[in-house]
Amino acid sequence: MDRSAVEIKGLTKMYGKLAALNNLTLDVRKGEILGYLGPNGSGKTTTIRLMLGTIKPTSGSVSIFGHDAQTEKDTVHTSIAYVPGEANLWPSLTGIETLHLLAKVHGRVDLDYRRQLIKRFELDPNRKVRTYSKGNKQKITLIAALASRAELLILDEPTSGLDPLMEQAFREAAVEAKGRGQTIFLSSHILEEVEALCDRIAVLRSGKLVELGTLEQMRHLSSLTIEASFRNHPPEVRNIKGVSKVELNGNNLVCQINGPVDELLSVIAKARPLTLISREPSLEELFLALYGRQSEAS
Ligand SMILES: Nc1ncnc2c1ncn2[C@@H]1O[C@H](COP(=O)(O)OP(=O)(O)O)[C@@H](O)[C@H]1O
Ligand SMILES: [Mg+2]
Repeated sequence: MDRSAVEIKGLTKMYGKLAALNNLTLDVRKGEILGYLGPNGSGKTTTIRLMLGTIKPTSGSVSIFGHDAQTEKDTVHTSIAYVPGEANLWPSLTGIETLHLLAKVHGRVDLDYRRQLIKRFELDPNRKVRTYSKGNKQKITLIAALASRAELLILDEPTSGLDPLMEQAFREAAVEAKGRGQTIFLSSHILEEVEALCDRIAVLRSGKLVELGTLEQMRHLSSLTIEASFRNHPPEVRNIKGVSKVELNGNNLVCQINGPVDELLSVIAKARPLTLISREPSLEELFLALYGRQSEAS
């Protein structure tokens, strides 16, 4: 049985001389939440348009549940729901009228779940769309997509206009969708959201995939931070292999370690530390390490 929801092969999109997307090969596994990260202009929306078949690739292909996104667009669309970064809705319809219409577009809707989501996202469905803020329009397209229970949710920076409470409501709904076996392709530049939700993370830079893996696998990009405090002066650690960025502050020691930690820990242990903290890099630190390294290379 095929375990892929989406198979992207050698996908390139040129706009004149600009490669908006450059030879992307990527699988999205069934049932996973894949975080699609990258700064503005890195090619996230272009990838999504190619997945939806709304633009033509210069070369390469996208297959969704075994169907080609270009030549079998209609079949593909029956199994996906899409939330655009910026919703273009009909200004004179009310929220609920819009939801009815979007449900017809999706072809199915879980009405009980939709009622729940309207409450949880605190949406007033009886107002006209033209009176909605950006966040409220975002809620409409999110609720419609989630209530469709589509097998694959393609979300393009879906929480950019939401306040923190609603961001939380989104995260809960994403976890529920995953629990039901739905697959989520989540384009985002909110590192915290990706860190909290995603099984794997793909990182895009200037149209190129520069990193793909679990957060665990990506941790090799940055080092572990060790903090220890001592009754007296901290031990000398500067010459230990892998140790960098040593900071001494009275009887406190902070440093970073790449690779095996045993030698560092035994030196610290011999000096009888009062406290010891080790901290793995956050996705933000990883991201900085990754982009720092890239700009040095280029
Ligand atoms: N229709 C278009 N015509 C010309 N250039 C485009 C078009 N759409 C996107 N681009 C360019 O392609 C690059 C990637 O854009 P996009 O996929 O929207 O990035 P992201 O969604 O990651 O912010 C950007 O440099 C953007 O200016
Ligand atoms: Mg975009």
